[in-house]
Amino acid sequence: MKNGISGFEKEKYVKEVFRRIAPKYDFMNRLMTGGFDHRWKEEVVKLAQIQDNDRILDLGAGTGDLAKTVNHVHQNPRVVAADFSFEMMSAGRTNMELPFVQADALSLPFADDTFNCVVSGYLLRNVSHLDQALSEIFRVIKRDGRFVVLDTTKPGRNIFSPFIWVHMHWIIPLIGGIVSGFRAAYEYLPNSSEQFLSAEELEEQLKIAGFVSVGFRRLMFGTIAIHWAKKGEI
Ligand SMILES: C[S@@+](CC[C@H](N)C(=O)[O-])C[C@H]1O[C@@H](n2cnc3c(N)ncnc32)[C@H](O)[C@@H]1O
Repeated sequence: MKNGISGFEKEKYVKEVFRRIAPKYDFMNRLMTGGFDHRWKEEVVKLAQIQDNDRILDLGAGTGDLAKTVNHVHQNPRVVAADFSFEMMSAGRTNMELPFVQADALSLPFADDTFNCVVSGYLLRNVSHLDQALSEIFRVIKRDGRFVVLDTTKPGRNIFSPFIWVHMHWIIPLIGGIVSGFRAAYEYLPNSSEQFLSAEELEEQLKIAGFVSVGFRRLMFGTIAIHWAKKGEI
């Protein structure tokens, strides 16, 4: 794992990680989360309060798993799945109804006030400039639109801490290495979680970016958080 990388170096490394693990990404995600990942994504979709005909952006969509969840739950949403990794999107192209767009979260190719809702799954801890990504997300959301974020978060110390540590630093790299053939990626992922903001810190960053009605809830022994936020008056 590359500790403490930032900026362009981080962006390059993240692209390489997802390029190499793309074919096995969904399988490993299910395995690492014991299958709960899908339930959390359903929770994200519920919190997004999507209405018929809303325009939705799944940003950092990867294989489009979250976008597909939106499509399963709602009748006529117009969902776009965007990611900067061509390989991740290719790995997810089983459902041709889903429009994929290759895009960098730091410079989105969408006009201001385009989407009723932006959702993201495990994107934010991977971006090289969080403030820039949040500002871009804010820009493309319509007024009163929502942003719902699923990501890992630093858990406080609790009775499960030693087990969580072993799971993240031993089991995930071991299994990830065997399944994907790229162990370093599965050392990067837990480390990037530990280096990411706490749930309270991310809440603060969302407010700084201009969002209102910001809140979050923790899941999975405090290791996962879902944040929600609204674009209010500007
Ligand atoms: C951990 S995966 C999550 C995939 C999917 N959202 C999910 O929930 O399973 C993170 C994704 O974010 C993408 N990503 C990271 N930085 C990005 C950026 N700056 N712009 C667009 N996508 C980015 C990666 O390519 C990768 O597909």
